[in-house]
Amino acid sequence: MEHEVMLQAQGLVKDFRVPGGVVSSVAGVDLEIYRGETLALVGESGCGKSTLGRLLMRLIEPTAGKVIFDGVDLNSVSPARMRALRQRMQIIFQDPFSSLDPRMTVGQIIEEPLKIHRLCPDKKEREARVRALMKRIGIRPEYYDRYPHQFSGGQRQRVGIARALALKPELVVCDEPVSALDVSIQAQILNLLQDLQQEFHLTYLFISHDLSVVRYISDRVCVMFLGRICEIGDAEEVYSHPRHPYTKFLMDSVPLPDPDKRKEDKDLLTGEVPSPIAPPSGCRFHTRCPYAQDICAQEPPPAFRDLGGGHGCACHFPLD
Ligand SMILES: Nc1ncnc2c1ncn2[C@@H]1O[C@H](COP(=O)(O)OP(=O)(O)O)[C@@H](O)[C@H]1O
Ligand code: SF4
Ligand SMILES: [Mg+2]
Repeated sequence: MEHEVMLQAQGLVKDFRVPGGVVSSVAGVDLEIYRGETLALVGESGCGKSTLGRLLMRLIEPTAGKVIFDGVDLNSVSPARMRALRQRMQIIFQDPFSSLDPRMTVGQIIEEPLKIHRLCPDKKEREARVRALMKRIGIRPEYYDRYPHQFSGGQRQRVGIARALALKPELVVCDEPVSALDVSIQAQILNLLQDLQQEFHLTYLFISHDLSVVRYISDRVCVMFLGRICEIGDAEEVYSHPRHPYTKFLMDSVPLPDPDKRKEDKDLLTGEVPSPIAPPSGCRFHTRCPYAQDICAQEPPPAFRDLGGGHGCACHFPLD
């Protein structure tokens, strides 16, 4: 199948200076996002997913590397051009509690991007557009003058989605959009996002630490560990036949029907993540990998070993 590349990351690096050293948050990422797809970005908490998402939207500046959006190198565009491009890429945050300004009504919140970008100068028309959008995402338009605290978590996330869609973007980075919500609400929001994708022809980068959340909504999956991509490929293929030991490790840890078992596995998963201030040499997973050999501690694996059909894996010894 032919893919139109909408966004491309080349050698992206992001280091943060912190007391005691430098956090190597994103450590050389090459990635393509295709128009119209949902690409899931998964990995344990702290592996650099949000940082990568922000880099891709140029909400933060990379330490090295570049991002090309629709053929335009985002590092080299003027602020005015960047502002225009920004309309085409939006982000939905995890926490609908802290990402909505509590002093603004939900109508004002959804309207704000339209005002900032002067997209709809007529006040009446703008308000009508906001009310129509509210209706579409499942918030009664009569609630235009209510404040975020008057809504439930799921409804607030709907407001966050409406705000992101107000500018009719093409690419939406969804950064753990359901992780803070009750399980019963998660499915509703996921369904809404899927419907909106069809209707508005959206491309999603869907970030989640929870593999079970992204399984049924993603076309492709990209797995990250400590700032690097381990594996990428068609969701079906990666889920049914993981080739990177870390992916397999993650897959084997979910689903976890037994709550006691879940706790143990979670501890196991989080307890051993090495520090990004002093990441392991060679393959960053080698201290946890049951398949590690001498070379793994010495040489980083090639960033993308092509396993065919767009399936890639960064491992010296991909699984069969
Ligand atoms: N602004 C920052 N300053 C210092 N360290 C940061 C900053 N943002 C993220 N980090 C660090 O970078 C790493 C990756 O963080 P993040 O991208 O938030 O991971 P994830 O979204 O996968 O949980 C973590 O070790 C985090 O502490
Ligand atoms: S490169 Fe080596 S340590 Fe890293 S995942 Fe592959 S086998 Fe394990
Ligand atoms: Mg995050």
